[in-house]
Amino acid sequence: MKRIGLITSGGDAPGMNACIRAITKYCLNIGIVPIGFFDGYQGIIENRCLELGFTDVNNIIHQGGTILGTARSEEFRTAQGRSKAIGNLLSNKIDALICIGGDGTFAGANVLSEEMNIPVIGIPGTIDNDISGTDHSIGYDTALNTVIDAIDKIRDTASSHHRIFFVEVMGRNSGFIAANTGLASGAIDILIPEREGSIEAICEKLEKGRQRKKTSSIVIVAEGCKLGHAQHIADQVSARLKDYDTKVSILGHIQRGGDPTSFDRILASRLGVAAVEGLIAGRKDEMVGIIKNQVVYTPFEEAIREGHHIDEEVLRVADILSI
Ligand code: F6P
Repeated sequence: MKRIGLITSGGDAPGMNACIRAITKYCLNIGIVPIGFFDGYQGIIENRCLELGFTDVNNIIHQGGTILGTARSEEFRTAQGRSKAIGNLLSNKIDALICIGGDGTFAGANVLSEEMNIPVIGIPGTIDNDISGTDHSIGYDTALNTVIDAIDKIRDTASSHHRIFFVEVMGRNSGFIAANTGLASGAIDILIPEREGSIEAICEKLEKGRQRKKTSSIVIVAEGCKLGHAQHIADQVSARLKDYDTKVSILGHIQRGGDPTSFDRILASRLGVAAVEGLIAGRKDEMVGIIKNQVVYTPFEEAIREGHHIDEEVLRVADILSI
């Protein structure tokens, strides 16, 4: 194996740079040339790439975002787009490809693997943590801490004004960010796609809180919540509990930025090295993850199909402590 291609794809996640650094340094140290393609699969289609050297990855371990850029490529979904991509991988003499991203990235990698003979390994990088085959994806821990920091600030003003804040967090169809930040921030309720909920149940909790002299509260709403977006839920609660002062805060893309936590830097570094080691050992069409602190490789199909299930214990403890 002489030349390994590398992309970051889908939504960026803090720690992707630490992972690019790990792959680059490890490759160079063992005589493999790492080639970074820009903007995910789109960069492969357009043949925009760079042979990475040590200086390209100096001082990036602590930076959020991705120096390679990222994208959700529509063209890559077409057979024509993928055929261009394969042509460019071959013309650049790429012996193997590493894709850092989420489920969309792995779905793409899986199709690509079926259409070419170049081995592909995936590394989970998404704040959503919605992929099976790993306990944590790169960026998730940083996102949790960003959300907690924001909620702590919201709580200050919520308690001063005796308000109920509905805080909407990211996660697409997964409630990982909501559930864990809900527990860590002492939220009165956590609304996630994985659980049925009702406006009546939220009102009941708020009323119970009031009976216990709670004059301000935080309700976490995952963006994929079945009851709708935070504003919609807040409006319905306000219509029922007219004397409550309700506010909505949508945290948005700040959750995707910022310096990676030490946890994400370590995870990204370990997964970067494990991906290269896996390729050298002849692995392909798999995602590398860490489960119970051990490196594991999971076939793409399984990683995408299984989904990552929320720890019921987190929800149980959050419920016990919510009021
Ligand atoms: O997958 C990461 C994520 O941040 C999701 O939580 C969110 O639904 C989505 O990406 C937002 O995507 P975009 O940046 O394209 O708006």
